[in-house]
Amino acid sequence: MSAEIWAIGGGKGGTGKSFLASGLAMYLAGIGKKITLIDADLGGANLHTILKVEEPTATLSDFFERKVSLESISQETKIPNLRLVIGDIRTLNPDSIKYGQRVKLYRHITSMPDDYVIIDLGAGSGLNTLDTFLLADKMITITVPESTSIDNLYHFLKKALFRKLNVFLADHHLKDAAKNTWRKREENDIRTIKHLVDHFKKISPEVSNLLENEFSHIEINVVVNQVRHTPHSHIGQSVKSVIIKYFGVSAHYAGAISYDDSLWKYMDRGEPYFGLTSDRTIMEEVGNIAWNLMEKKQVKLSDISAEVLL
Ligand SMILES: Nc1ncnc2c1ncn2[C@@H]1O[C@H](COP(=O)(O)OP(=O)(O)O)[C@@H](O)[C@H]1O
Ligand SMILES: [Mg+2]
Repeated sequence: MSAEIWAIGGGKGGTGKSFLASGLAMYLAGIGKKITLIDADLGGANLHTILKVEEPTATLSDFFERKVSLESISQETKIPNLRLVIGDIRTLNPDSIKYGQRVKLYRHITSMPDDYVIIDLGAGSGLNTLDTFLLADKMITITVPESTSIDNLYHFLKKALFRKLNVFLADHHLKDAAKNTWRKREENDIRTIKHLVDHFKKISPEVSNLLENEFSHIEINVVVNQVRHTPHSHIGQSVKSVIIKYFGVSAHYAGAISYDDSLWKYMDRGEPYFGLTSDRTIMEEVGNIAWNLMEKKQVKLSDISAEVLL
């Protein structure tokens, strides 16, 4: 059986991607799941610091440059069941990874002998990042309750879905069709990615079903982090609705995490943080998100007042 892949991307720097990736990984390992966490934030890899892996013996550079398996370069952490593939700040630039190296990475990720592989993609939206995000079984985006962060999330999703459409059309002998149609979008009254996909469904009946199938499998999971009071958690519902309406894919609001003033002090201890923010710990909030993701549940409007207790 191959691992289920969860990728966290899209939020701008500082929104809590690495905190969420490490928190989910620690929580899942804690309930007995076998986890590999991959630090694919190549320009700002820091999961080894968060997980306190003090003597990295191998990084993703070794994987790309040598004939070694992903499993063999993953390292033990202080947490049983949780191994880490360390990113490399020094040598790797996400855009310098060649196609063949990328294919090798995907092949190894999908055959890891784990329950879950969790990938921290960092803040960029280069092609490597978008493609890794699109490869995931669970695509997770995170935002803080600020409009710049939410805009950033939409921008990332727009690029990811545009990329998905482009690759699909190129595979069906319609290379550059998405770009050209988008350029002349006013002629066809195309205003959103959803309109663009619908346009191709209409004009190319032969690919319509396949295209529908490709996009109907996409499910974006939204996490709102650094929530300071209850209305902030409603943002998750609005973001979800916008994604469904304008991007034409399904979306789930997977949960919110409270702002905790002391979190930064614990970010490099290599173990779960059980500080109390309200009557729930941050780790319980992360655990709640993990269960929502595992069981494909989501926060309902009626849950929101109980969701963030401040
Ligand atoms: N819920 C939270 N409450 C308080 N501080 C947080 C929270 N989530 C993240 N942070 C802090 O924000 C900073 C950035 O988090 P990080 O996970 O490194 O972001 P990213 O990986 O998205 O750049 C860290 O110092 C972290 O301690
Ligand atoms: Mg990070």
